[in-house]
Amino acid sequence: MDDSDSLLEALRSLEVEALTAVRHASDAATLEALRVRYLGRKDGRISAILRSLGSLPPQERPRVGSEANRVRDAVEAAWRERKSLLDRAASAGREELDLSLPGREAWRGAKHPVLQVVDEIWEIFRSLGFTRARGPEVESEWYNFVALNTPLDHPVVDEADTFYLKGGYLLRTHTSPVQVRVLEKYPPPVRIIAPGMVYRRDTPDPTHTPAFMQLEGLVVDEGISFVDFKATLAEFARRFWGPETRVRFRPSFFPFTEPSAEVDVKRVVTKADGSVEETPWLEIMGAGMVDPAVLENVGIDPERYTGFAFGMGPARIAALKFGIKDIRVFFDNDVRLLGQLALP
Ligand code: DAH
Repeated sequence: MDDSDSLLEALRSLEVEALTAVRHASDAATLEALRVRYLGRKDGRISAILRSLGSLPPQERPRVGSEANRVRDAVEAAWRERKSLLDRAASAGREELDLSLPGREAWRGAKHPVLQVVDEIWEIFRSLGFTRARGPEVESEWYNFVALNTPLDHPVVDEADTFYLKGGYLLRTHTSPVQVRVLEKYPPPVRIIAPGMVYRRDTPDPTHTPAFMQLEGLVVDEGISFVDFKATLAEFARRFWGPETRVRFRPSFFPFTEPSAEVDVKRVVTKADGSVEETPWLEIMGAGMVDPAVLENVGIDPERYTGFAFGMGPARIAALKFGIKDIRVFFDNDVRLLGQLALP
């Protein structure tokens, strides 16, 4: 056996030894020691063999040299693989997972309490044959006042004289302009519910916010009478607050209804022991028979068609329902409150 054969044999057994040692190294320190031992430039075993090539006859050197390079590449590759495996294991261990902890529930969000009430009101009117309508929050003076039989020199315009934009536009002060927009577009019979935000120059206090939700209702058809008006709203109140709810219509004034009324409800609760509990009268909406002038403004013949309309404030109704004393909390966006009022 000449020198080159013995070197090739030494390389092969070195390869097996080095790969076995590297693949079984159980920690970073052991692995580092193996790198120095086999791959080290100065004292490494492979380097030693490469250095001894000089003692071979020149024609033998390439064969042994390329084999030595192959073994070095193979050991290096195995070393890098082992290194990354040990690194990954070390960093995973550092997180210290506690699998006994309860999971964190995902926050799914929920409907705002005022919108829950809008939905509940809407469901009742839907079952009574109403459809849903809406109008823009930026309105013209025509829709917000004039078409609703409210001339611009009427005192209520002063009260609402607020949030004006250029060119006779303003943020609507009530949802009643939706009445006009719907009647312009659709011939009677009309039965609509139109919820939406409205804006007024109110100083915030426990029962007022300058922006709030309103819910408009309108019925126009042949032969609609005051009886239909009272019966529909009483039916709504009994479905919303319970069958024993009492309803009261107090005379009032709105430019776009004649006659006009404020509608109050009184909840009557019979308890398990037979005793009866009554709430005070609560005002829930303004309402009335549609003024003939409003119908004329949209080209509907008031001799043939009559109707009734109403407007309520879902935030106040939500406050009553949830026992909230200050409606400003509906705008605070505090999830500690909203979470308590969320539907399951
Ligand atoms: N628009 C009135 C307001 O904001 C509420 C209202 C009263 C609406 C009577 C109506 C109605 O439709 O008939 O105060």
